[in-house]
Amino acid sequence: MEKYNVKQILALESYGETITVEGWVKTKRGSKNVAFIALNDGSTINNIQIVVDFEIIDASLLDDVHTGASLKITGELLKSEGKNQTVEIKASEVIIYGKANPDEFPIQPKRHTLEFLREHAHLRFRTNLFGAITRVRHAMIFAIHDFFNQKGFCNVHTPIITGSDAEGAGEMFRVTTLPLDIPPKTENGTIDFSEDFFGKETNLTVSGQLEAELAALALSKVYTFGPTFRAENSNTSRHLAEFWMVEPEVAFADINENMDLAEELLKYCVKYAMEKCSDDIDFLDSRFSNEQKGKPQNERSELGLKEQMNFVLENDFVRLSYTDAIEILRNSKPNKKKKFNYIIEGWGADLQSEHERYLVEKHFKKPVILIDYPKEIKSFYMKQNDDGKTVRAMDILFPGIGEIVGGSQREENYEKLKTRMGEMNIPQEEMWWYLETRKFGTVPHSGFGLGFERLLLFVTGMGNIRDVIPFPRTPKNAEF
Ligand code: 4AD
Ligand code: MG
Repeated sequence: MEKYNVKQILALESYGETITVEGWVKTKRGSKNVAFIALNDGSTINNIQIVVDFEIIDASLLDDVHTGASLKITGELLKSEGKNQTVEIKASEVIIYGKANPDEFPIQPKRHTLEFLREHAHLRFRTNLFGAITRVRHAMIFAIHDFFNQKGFCNVHTPIITGSDAEGAGEMFRVTTLPLDIPPKTENGTIDFSEDFFGKETNLTVSGQLEAELAALALSKVYTFGPTFRAENSNTSRHLAEFWMVEPEVAFADINENMDLAEELLKYCVKYAMEKCSDDIDFLDSRFSNEQKGKPQNERSELGLKEQMNFVLENDFVRLSYTDAIEILRNSKPNKKKKFNYIIEGWGADLQSEHERYLVEKHFKKPVILIDYPKEIKSFYMKQNDDGKTVRAMDILFPGIGEIVGGSQREENYEKLKTRMGEMNIPQEEMWWYLETRKFGTVPHSGFGLGFERLLLFVTGMGNIRDVIPFPRTPKNAEF
């Protein structure tokens, strides 16, 4: 006998066929003579209805079947008369794999808060919402590899343990096997890392970019897609200590080609989600609308989830210099009325998420790509513009999110890069290998990093980044 998953069964038309299905009970309802079980196995957001006729199955068998129980059902596929489904299964055999005592099982068929579900992350996959998010997350992983593969990019695995701070931001998690209570010391009293596992200081990577650049300077078009770790203590709805980043790196490409690539990638992913995950996106879209109703008027999103997605697909992203953005922000209402938490006084200010979202949601009402930032607020590797003040950075800002992509054209000139590293106290001896690529066959090249969970915030309409990764890692939280 053929074994089908629920998604396959819902598409069958072979009425009368005897089939088997396995899954978890979503709900059970019924009367004296018959019970209806909604069964789900995670293959789709939709359930298969199981009809249990007590003339065929002993009614007492279902006494222990409640939401969350796992079952194996064999029965006949029937055309359904119910209005929410096309087929149902009339059970001839019901096998209980595992019960779920309703007095103890936390995931009952009612509305749970997202906070409650985070505390039950081991079971939240069982909800419709986290089933949908998990499937969309999978689809987005697949879409990203598909996109780059079609374009002839080579995927490279960059190291997770590194000896360098790629962003120069110093927000790293140390990796060590030294005993914390009695670490070996050098003669002048500092910790002797030569005794450590790798014979030097190491940490978890904050970005695969620097190594991706090495590969791009031979394979021309590469990308990494891996876990990234940042020990920044920002307990926000957009930051994780462990997140996934997509980082393409392209030789012979300038900032404009970089922007084109990023815009195309984002549109590809959004389109892919709408086309390949339509059931889940429909579900998330109605959830999003319900969420909005509970918010105060001024915090409500003007567009629904699918409307937002279409909006991104249909519009060219606005491309604008940092300098122009500062002018817009300086003269904006919230700045003049001191509504921003950080008032923009003038050129040089670092943009906060409130400013990014103002540009996208209020001013342009379109995704925005900002370029040519002051070199002081950006990383050492960005290509310096001729004005001596700005670098060829690009950040992509999205509605509801703020920065979703950060990237740049890279400084390919050996002397300029070396000088900038000196100015920014980036240890040149440790980074000798990075500098050597500018000594041997250097070429103009560009790349960017897309925060994978931020992309997921956009396509799922979720408001908190902790809900788009199965097991979030945030300050003071590493349960599960
Ligand atoms: O802007 P960032 O720091 O850029 C880099 O790391 C570059 N090396 C990328 C490159 O050019 N190859 O990070 C890139 C993106 C951000 O735009 C944001 O979407 C995401 O990574 N991101 C985070 N996502 C979740 N939690 C955090 N703590 C994040 N920090 C950055
Ligand atoms: Mg950034």
